Amino acid sequence: MVVLFLVASTAFAVDVDGRIGTGEYAREASFDNGNFKVFWTIDQDRIFMALDVKANGWISIGFEPSRVMADADMIFGMVPPSGPVEAIDAFSTGTFGPHPPDANLGGKNDVLQFAGTRNGDRIIFEFVRLLDTGDRYDKKIPATGKLKIIWAYGPNFTFSAKHLKAGAETLDL
Ligand code: HEM
Repeated sequence: MVVLFLVASTAFAVDVDGRIGTGEYAREASFDNGNFKVFWTIDQDRIFMALDVKANGWISIGFEPSRVMADADMIFGMVPPSGPVEAIDAFSTGTFGPHPPDANLGGKNDVLQFAGTRNGDRIIFEFVRLLDTGDRYDKKIPATGKLKIIWAYGPNFTFSAKHLKAGAETLDL
């Protein structure tokens, strides 16, 4: 029984180390001809997510926009060639931004853990957050069902630099 429990509990273990191992995540989706891949595992009250993007600038995913970018709960991964890896928990206040950090709007940074690496021409960024953070600038992520997302990647690491490419999709959690 003990052995079985250990096997079961490690089956979905995600290491937030900036690397995506084979079978590390329960689910994945690919957009923009494979340039933007998203991986995720929902475990109890939290979501582990990884972005694997062909980019040399910021990468971002947004949850539940109302229209284009408006009201999207965004997470940015910044993995520059040198310098610290950063995660930014942001919120788009307008149709085409701006998207200030939640903390600047009176909310808070709800990224519990993050890590990033560069792998050739791709950037890998992993993060963890609660499904329901309680912050009014975060969208509640359901444990099952559909989640509307937007994705984008920028030309450089300037937070306000417009994306090279962006799109809208629905994830089947
Ligand atoms: C960083 C600063 C950003 C600026 C200045 C910006 C600006 C814009 C503008 C002006 C448009 C209208 C269409 C166009 O001109 O291409 C647009 C569209 C869009 N944006 Fe952003 N955006 C930013 C960040 C983001 C982020 C972080 C996301 C997703 C997480 C996003 C998702 C989208 C989507 C899905 C569209 C509609 C599809 C498209 O036209 O490409 N944007 N954005």
